[in-house]
Amino acid sequence: MAPILGLAQELLVFLGKSILVVVESLVFTFIPVPRKKVAGEIVLITGAGSGLGRLLALKFARLGSVLVLWDINQERNEETRKMVQEAGVAGAYAYTCDCSQREDVYRVASQVKKEVGDVSILINNAGIVTGRKFLDCPDELMEKSLDVNFKAHLWTYKAFLPAMIANDHGHLVCISSSAGLIGVYGLADYCASKFAAFGFAETVFFETFASKQKGIKTTIVCPFFIKTQMFEGCTSRLSYVLPILEPEYAVEKIVDAILKEQLYLYMPRFIYIMVFLKSFLPPKLGMLLAEYVGAFNFMDGFTNSKKKD
Ligand SMILES: NC(=O)c1ccc[n+]([C@@H]2O[C@H](COP(=O)([O-])OP(=O)(O)OC[C@H]3O[C@@H](n4cnc5c(N)ncnc54)[C@H](O)[C@@H]3O)[C@@H](O)[C@H]2O)c1
Repeated sequence: MAPILGLAQELLVFLGKSILVVVESLVFTFIPVPRKKVAGEIVLITGAGSGLGRLLALKFARLGSVLVLWDINQERNEETRKMVQEAGVAGAYAYTCDCSQREDVYRVASQVKKEVGDVSILINNAGIVTGRKFLDCPDELMEKSLDVNFKAHLWTYKAFLPAMIANDHGHLVCISSSAGLIGVYGLADYCASKFAAFGFAETVFFETFASKQKGIKTTIVCPFFIKTQMFEGCTSRLSYVLPILEPEYAVEKIVDAILKEQLYLYMPRFIYIMVFLKSFLPPKLGMLLAEYVGAFNFMDGFTNSKKKD
């Protein structure tokens, strides 16, 4: 009898807590979630030399954060540093770092800790795309995709998470992709790296949550194509539900999700529906839907030759 009472009690506690969480979510559907202040926070952005990384840097500069900018491209990273300086940043430090190299990440990370301090918002944004079908993609390029788009996240977490835990204060941001939720024709290595980045960030979130490290937040971002250099030439057939996103819009949403401490951000909203449908539709119907939305042809116009060669 006693074990049954124990189980019933556990179930009641679970149901009670669940109701509270649902009520809280409903309340925040109608009233705006308070945004956290990030003035003075040390924000590290990888891949800050262009695209989303540069725009994120500008946005955090305007919010009063201290910026640590990492990129493999020294010149473009320095350009970003100058741009954020002109935007009136509290402090901006540019470091050349090849995030695909573990030793480079650790070396530059310890330099940052000495010269700037403990990073409190880590944005793993650096990324590359090969854009070739699996059997056409050379092994070295596939390895590089995994090194930059996924493994770099392991090394940056190892470098900066311990201090966040010690301070009970930190935010881990993973720029994954909708290609980290659903396979995309012609992007096998990219999808593998983005699924891995998603799974890794989600698991560390579970670990910090279960360890009651309440000060450590996570945001995982999964956007569809964005008009940056990375996926230049790619098209979307159903642009009313799956538009190619404007970079400024994407960055606005990403920063807002960080300030709201939102765990998942998929954009556009249709991605939530696609992920939901994928979980139960018969695979043949899923393929029909994929064909209908043009998923087998997204990459047809891909012209990012710099990264292709
Ligand atoms: N553009 C899109 O359509 C899209 C869609 C979904 C997700 N994303 C993701 O968003 C992130 C930013 O993409 P973007 O569109 O701004 O691309 P981008 O090509 O404009 O910028 C990527 C930056 O990463 C840097 N980088 C590349 N390899 C590096 C390395 N080894 N070490 C350090 N820096 C390196 C590049 O120099 C560049 O500045 C990427 O992770 C990308 O996968 C992009």
